[in-house]
Amino acid sequence: PRRREYTWTVRDQVHNPDGVYRPMMLVNNQFPGPLIEVNEGDTIVVSVENQAVNATSIHWHGIYQRGTPHMDGTVGITQCPIAPGGRFTYEFTVTGQTGTYWWHAHQGVQSSDGMHGPLIIHGKDEKKNIQYATDRVLIVADHYHELSSALLWQYLKPDMENVEPIPDSALLNGRGIRDCDDFPHRQCDNTTSNVGRPILDLAPNQQHRIRIINAGAFAEFQVQIDEHTLAVCEADGTEVLPVHYHRININPGQRYSVIVNTTNTNADTFWLRALMITKCFKERSATLQPEIDAIVRYSADATQLPTSVDWKERLAVECRDMNTTELVPVDAVEAPAKADAFFYFRANFEIGDYRLSRGVFDSSSWRVDAERPSLLRTVDGLVERNASYTPSQAEVASGGAAFINDVAFHKPTELVLQTTGLQTIDILISNFDDGNHPMHLHGYKYFVLAQGHGYPPMKSVLDGITRENVQPLYDTLDLSNPLRRDTASVEGFGWILLRLVADNPGMWAFHCHISWHTEAGLLMQLLTRSDKLATLEIPEANRALCAADGIERGMGP
Ligand code: C2O
Repeated sequence: PRRREYTWTVRDQVHNPDGVYRPMMLVNNQFPGPLIEVNEGDTIVVSVENQAVNATSIHWHGIYQRGTPHMDGTVGITQCPIAPGGRFTYEFTVTGQTGTYWWHAHQGVQSSDGMHGPLIIHGKDEKKNIQYATDRVLIVADHYHELSSALLWQYLKPDMENVEPIPDSALLNGRGIRDCDDFPHRQCDNTTSNVGRPILDLAPNQQHRIRIINAGAFAEFQVQIDEHTLAVCEADGTEVLPVHYHRININPGQRYSVIVNTTNTNADTFWLRALMITKCFKERSATLQPEIDAIVRYSADATQLPTSVDWKERLAVECRDMNTTELVPVDAVEAPAKADAFFYFRANFEIGDYRLSRGVFDSSSWRVDAERPSLLRTVDGLVERNASYTPSQAEVASGGAAFINDVAFHKPTELVLQTTGLQTIDILISNFDDGNHPMHLHGYKYFVLAQGHGYPPMKSVLDGITRENVQPLYDTLDLSNPLRRDTASVEGFGWILLRLVADNPGMWAFHCHISWHTEAGLLMQLLTRSDKLATLEIPEANRALCAADGIERGMGP
């Protein structure tokens, strides 16, 4: 194993990814941000200096952070943000996982201002089941022409009826191209070298791996390459037996690796099309351009634009995940036969305090407390209680899992689900909103046991959703080798059942990865293996962040 050291500087910069100039926040002047590429077992050390005017933090999406939950980078949960002018060094070892991950700011919606990049963990056996000659990253993302803080302020305003900010463009690997005439009031130049369609050079008669990451704030994407099938072989770091598709749908926070076989003899250039699924948008702007294309070329000498043809059939476009029950993990793991506890949450939007529209799990709507991260509060609380934490009566009654809001948190803004000891828990979520919610859990991969539309199968539709009443759902579960991932969608007006082996000590965010929804409060926390946390040593450098001036800068409404 190696130590991989990176030095990052965060700055405010003006940049024109699709031609239109806008203020952005970038790491090392790069967009997308720097690639982190390591082997399993390596230690990643990233020293971040914040030269931007707003406070920030970096989260390592999908990384387990086993033993280092305080390096998860989640403002309000695992750390205070890095103040303007401040520094912080993240250090963690990646073990027990391989595949495609990414990093992004976890302060407000800064990820959408440019603070994101890929994180790839190579495994010794990654080519054992499937061969490929080249390996590359394709980041798909929606793109806004405004700073996220301004958009967020607009979105959370009273009486906005929960209309998410609608992206202006789509980008592939940070590039796109727009006609400047469409934006007469904006500074725009689409002739600079960073603007334009990306080109993917894929040599003929080979297999190529493309790691697709949706790093956007809102839009689900449909991705295809004309006249080539995409063999999906990885979902969120779980290697799966290849399944061939013409198009794949990918939601914010998700990753799929695909293998492309370059054996087409019709031509040597082809369109790669990435389309935002606008059906899931509540509004559209006149200048919205939902598609961005890249050119796949077999030979660098091929200069003509592709004349390749689109797949004939359209996929039914729905606000939901592609059908992942077809994806079978290579490394077969049976889900635990039984869960120790069952939790049901209703996800919805409501008009809350000050008539702001809020995302809620049951009646809890998260609001970041940048100055008192909940992991630190919890660990300190456990330490005060002299390391001998005893679960409350409620926890004992539910087999060691309970809500601790009334114990340590007292606030309706912080739903904290706690487990003590090694627990397996089931989480069933119903979505009362018409859009889907890609639910991302930090620190884990969960088993996706089932998803569907409407209500889950129940004994009686007149009764509420309890473990007992959803027995018909349990009767149909296939536990033999379900997909394990870190971001799965609960579809609009649908439900999802997740099973989690809660074995990783820490305080973990569990939230909708539509960034606007996270900030509207659609986030809860899982405090797992709290019995192991009293002895966690949180480094002084992490605590010191909370004492710096300016940590509240850029917090949003
Ligand atoms: Cu990728 Cu909490 O985030």
